[in-house]
Amino acid sequence: MFMRKPVFMLSIAAGVFTLGVAAIGLAADAPANPVALGSPVTEAQLANWDLIVAPDGHNLPEGSGTAAQGLAVYQQKCAACHGTSGEGASGSPALVGGSVSTTPPLLTVGSYWPHASTLFDYVRRAMPPTAPKSLSNTEVYQVTAYVLHLHGVIAENFVLNKNTLPAVQMPNRDGFIDVSAN
Ligand code: HEC
Repeated sequence: MFMRKPVFMLSIAAGVFTLGVAAIGLAADAPANPVALGSPVTEAQLANWDLIVAPDGHNLPEGSGTAAQGLAVYQQKCAACHGTSGEGASGSPALVGGSVSTTPPLLTVGSYWPHASTLFDYVRRAMPPTAPKSLSNTEVYQVTAYVLHLHGVIAENFVLNKNTLPAVQMPNRDGFIDVSAN
């Protein structure tokens, strides 16, 4: 290993030298941006990444949905992996049920997550894993409501939107310590 290091460094040096020669070659008819790295990011492209919803619901989008509406979304886009009732399956976690008090605890969205906004945020950005960001905001509100309803957190026709979602009381909301407040 010790002997290999100088060889490695030499090859890097050779690479830099080659690049340097290439750059000199290009310099003859140098464009305004000789490095030509990347292209400007548009506002529309940024909007597709600026999606993080804070625990207090900050940055939740417009739209709304109920569990009754979310049933269809869940069956089509989630049930194959997470089970028809959110019970999970091999390789995909249970979303509802469980308890933080059993030994061992069964930590699910329903039993463990302190903020409902996190469910919206996670599903919008990561689920289904085969096609993240493919759900509309309305579909995410609907399926979020459905998962919360499966755990008995909200009623079937409770309307989730950017105002009501942050106020949803999760069962384990007091199970964490906010170290930033100490
Ligand atoms: C192809 C299978 C598949 C599909 C379809 C799918 N999921 Fe998942 N989901 C997973 C896997 C695997 C994980 C675990 C990911 C990890 O831990 O990194 C997961 C994790 C999650 C979690 C986090 C659970 C936790 O406790 O950490 C939520 C919430 C979730 N999925 C919701 C959904 C919803 C809602 C849908 C439908 C819109 C969906 N998933 C569709 C496979 C899937």
